[in-house]
Amino acid sequence: MKVNGEKYRTIWPAEDGSGVVIIDQTKFPHTFETTSLLDLEDAAHAIRVMQVRGAPLIGATAAFGVALGMKADPSDESLHAACDTLLATRPTAVNLKWALDIARKRLIQIAPERRAHAAFELASQICDDDIATNMAIGMHGMELITEIAKKKRPGEPVNVLTHCNAGWLATVDWGTATAPIYMSHDSGIPVHVWVDETRPRNQGAFLTAWELGHHGVPHTVVVDNAGGHLMQHGKVDLVITGTDRTTADGDVCNKIGTYLKALAARDNGVPFYVALPSSTIDFSLSDGLSQIPIEERSGTEVSHITGLTEDGRTETVEIVAPGSDTANPAFDVTPARLVTGLITERGVLEANRKAIVKAFPERMKMS
Ligand code: MRU
Repeated sequence: MKVNGEKYRTIWPAEDGSGVVIIDQTKFPHTFETTSLLDLEDAAHAIRVMQVRGAPLIGATAAFGVALGMKADPSDESLHAACDTLLATRPTAVNLKWALDIARKRLIQIAPERRAHAAFELASQICDDDIATNMAIGMHGMELITEIAKKKRPGEPVNVLTHCNAGWLATVDWGTATAPIYMSHDSGIPVHVWVDETRPRNQGAFLTAWELGHHGVPHTVVVDNAGGHLMQHGKVDLVITGTDRTTADGDVCNKIGTYLKALAARDNGVPFYVALPSSTIDFSLSDGLSQIPIEERSGTEVSHITGLTEDGRTETVEIVAPGSDTANPAFDVTPARLVTGLITERGVLEANRKAIVKAFPERMKMS
């Protein structure tokens, strides 16, 4: 996507061959800043502290992390150690394991002296594939938006509600939930997006709103609790979210609060779609609630908030009564029965095993 007239991906190899460049997502929404990852530990750190985040981008960064590790030491031991280090960075997004499994399996078969080069090629391929996948998701999702737009008065926007950031910043480009929105907007279909702020880290307010604003997509940021009210008043035509891990039976794990949006959507007859690449499907799991590991993050994300003061200083302030306990589960699971459809690179699927296996038979065999 374009930022100040220049085309960007979220991650790319440095031109001078020194490492990999990322957009530092901890600096949003006030600063657009790139930073370099020079070694394996830089890559692991970037995922851990969420300089990069979002399931597909975590996977792509891990692939580049392996390449940086191979550049320093291409031995078998180093390959396994690099994959293990990166796998331990965040627990929920399965794209991390997906990318590392591919890297480990491919690179172990390659002679150590050629491993670094092969690892960089593989990471670049994963990035290119991610973009192609998201564009396919965008085309399929745009068909859903087009159908809704046909029932509207001329010029009346299709209102999409989204949670967290499943935008281009969460992928290599285009995003998953946002790809249908960008494509519809670019094709002249009027779209308006309700952006959930997504406490505690505010990925909606900080990242999705920033993205949509830079692309000229009309949008409104709302507090996380507003979605149900908006749906009761007919102000949401459909919900599209992303996911960090979806089971073979169609249970969807995504940013905390997604489940409540799905419940409200069901109660109000609003379609609830989840956009995802097949790399986010964990074909080894069936029941999301009991089987998907939910990341538990620091309570300070709940008790403190960081923002910009009027005179331009970044300040962190406490917003919870001192001494209160806090809990911070970062994801929740929406059962398949609440999901209207999965928007994948191979079309819009019902959220059940039969439809998922039929669309991706080769992935099921591999798991
Ligand atoms: O904790 P985050 O910011 O990594 O969580 C991101 C999400 O929940 C996204 O919705 C998900 O990764 C899908 S990204 C296309």
